[in-house]
Amino acid sequence: MTPTVQAHPEDAAQLAAFEARIAAGEYIEPKDWMPERYRRQLIRMMSQHAHSECVGMLPEGNWISRAPSLRRKMTLIAKVQDEAGHGHYIYCATETLGASRDELLDELHAGKAKYSSIFNYPTLNWADIGVIGWFVDGAAIVNQTVLAKASYGPYARSMIRICKEENFHKRQGYEICSVMSAGTDAQRAMLQDAVNRWWWPSLMMFGPPDAASSNSDELLRWKVKRYTNDELRQRFINLTVPQAQAINVQLPDAALAYDTTSGNWQSGPIDWDEFWAVVKGNGPLNRERVAARKAAHDNGAWVRAAAEAYAAKQAARATAAA
Ligand SMILES: [Fe+2]
Ligand SMILES: [Fe+2]
Repeated sequence: MTPTVQAHPEDAAQLAAFEARIAAGEYIEPKDWMPERYRRQLIRMMSQHAHSECVGMLPEGNWISRAPSLRRKMTLIAKVQDEAGHGHYIYCATETLGASRDELLDELHAGKAKYSSIFNYPTLNWADIGVIGWFVDGAAIVNQTVLAKASYGPYARSMIRICKEENFHKRQGYEICSVMSAGTDAQRAMLQDAVNRWWWPSLMMFGPPDAASSNSDELLRWKVKRYTNDELRQRFINLTVPQAQAINVQLPDAALAYDTTSGNWQSGPIDWDEFWAVVKGNGPLNRERVAARKAAHDNGAWVRAAAEAYAAKQAARATAAA
């Protein structure tokens, strides 16, 4: 609870009413009373999510001009466009909490904002595009399907369409992988190499282990999150192992074993030092990603200026006609 909430006695009743609404499964809407801490946590989480959608375009956009066929090129363009749309929906939803898009983008461009650390890894060959769709969009589906039931209405609703599109992304990625797995020895080797590089960073997408996740308790209590990081990570592993088996791909974890008691695929230890290094800005491509987003924003300045000039002209015409 923030000091602001504690300082006003009337807020205790508002907080109790707010928590009762959440407990009853109601959605919280932009004009409803909410604790400042809830608003801040949502802005933090949603802006990180929106930034991730936008930065996530970069590793894949890199392969649009090198896609191996027209069909692959069209599919990849559609996917990258979808990610821009996801960023747009979530920035809009974040604006309903009083955070301006300019302010959020300034933080991203200054290198202060966080986004999913997976996008700081390079895409080295075509199989990476397949594996990103399969693993990264697959992990996004696991996370976002649950967020579609988050307690904040605009965030939850933005997830509904996003999840439908993520399913398309995952399928196109897995299809690329299944075609390569049935291909030449060189294609199979390329696929296995991509799987080896993306598996562990994909598991890290669910965030730090529960014991080290400082925000989790509060987010669970306010039903922004419905499951812990480790629970979602386990769900993703359980879904992905049979998919890897179906296309004869080895997941790079010698300790991976099925536990008959829990029904879970148990994995070996995750290298959290690597995770924290990437989160703190020292991943393979952190600086390049932020610089590329900033350049894209700067290069788009004339489009924003033109849109504003057009809107002003339309408004002036409407006033003159009235
Ligand atoms: Fe997305
Ligand atoms: Fe996606």
